[in-house]
Amino acid sequence: MSQYSTFKVGGPAEAIISVTNSEDLARLIHWLKKNDVNWWIVGRGSNILVPDQGLAGVTIVLEGEFSSIEKLESEGSQKENSTLIRAGAGCLLSKVIHYCTKNCLSGFEFAFGIPGSVGGAVIMNAGAWGHEIENLLDSATLMDNNGEVSTEQGRNLGFTYRGWGMKPNTVLLYATFTLTTSSREEIKAACRKYQELRKKNQPLIKPSAGSFFKNPPGLSAGRLIDEAGLKGHSIGGAKISEKHANFIVNTGSASATDILNLMRLVQNTVYKQFDIKLEPEVHILGDVG
Ligand code: EPU
Repeated sequence: MSQYSTFKVGGPAEAIISVTNSEDLARLIHWLKKNDVNWWIVGRGSNILVPDQGLAGVTIVLEGEFSSIEKLESEGSQKENSTLIRAGAGCLLSKVIHYCTKNCLSGFEFAFGIPGSVGGAVIMNAGAWGHEIENLLDSATLMDNNGEVSTEQGRNLGFTYRGWGMKPNTVLLYATFTLTTSSREEIKAACRKYQELRKKNQPLIKPSAGSFFKNPPGLSAGRLIDEAGLKGHSIGGAKISEKHANFIVNTGSASATDILNLMRLVQNTVYKQFDIKLEPEVHILGDVG
């Protein structure tokens, strides 16, 4: 799975199935349920950690019609100066931002440089610079674990800081976003500004999964790890970035076990020093004991 993860670590998946349309996905989910096989969806792998022993069960990748983006016709109920676009869960966020810039649609600039898919960004309620994706989401097309498709308003999805409130194995198929019209130059300038901030504060060159831990309420995980003196600390090929302490980077030879051991060391050290339990933002897949 290392090629499906921005950490560039992880053992083999027992099976990977690329699904290109909703009908096939419904049939597959039925079959997996009937045969009691574990499954999960992987987007662009920018926020996952796959153990070295790999993943038992079926890893599903959404491609084909799930990579589409389209502008929806106005239905009269929209706010003035707003446009709806619908993007498939498998679509890269960078593709959405490119589409928005080309069509003079503003809203997604904050996500410039986030390396995920639409599906991953929505289910994680991706955020940066004071913005979160839930504030752009109009509605979502979902599939439940019986293969039934429904549409939900964004406000009913139970969004939290870096999460949504839907049942496990609810699949996001499409997301409809509300965007406003702006000038292409303004959109480009905002994207540049956020990219500069990201370059200044975050280690973007070495493989990582972005922020590793969630910020505890009112606090900064990066600052706590920094104050615990862990910047630059490494286990095997996994290292706490010198540039931002909430980034664990793969210096080239990391295994998933190195990253997990470093994660536990950070959690134990921060807990001992500050009595605060850091929770990973990264989704740890499979059985890590
Ligand atoms: N800080 C330190 N030492 C460090 C790193 C940070 O003292 O090594 C301090 C900073 O000086 C600042 C505070 O901690 O005062 C917060 O740091 P920063 O501004 O970098 O933001 P963050 O809370 O660490 C969050 C998101 C990022 C997002 C940025 C920008 C989380 C867990 N992370 O980082 O999201 O890009 O804000 O808005 O909420 C991600 O989720 O993967 C991600 C990169």
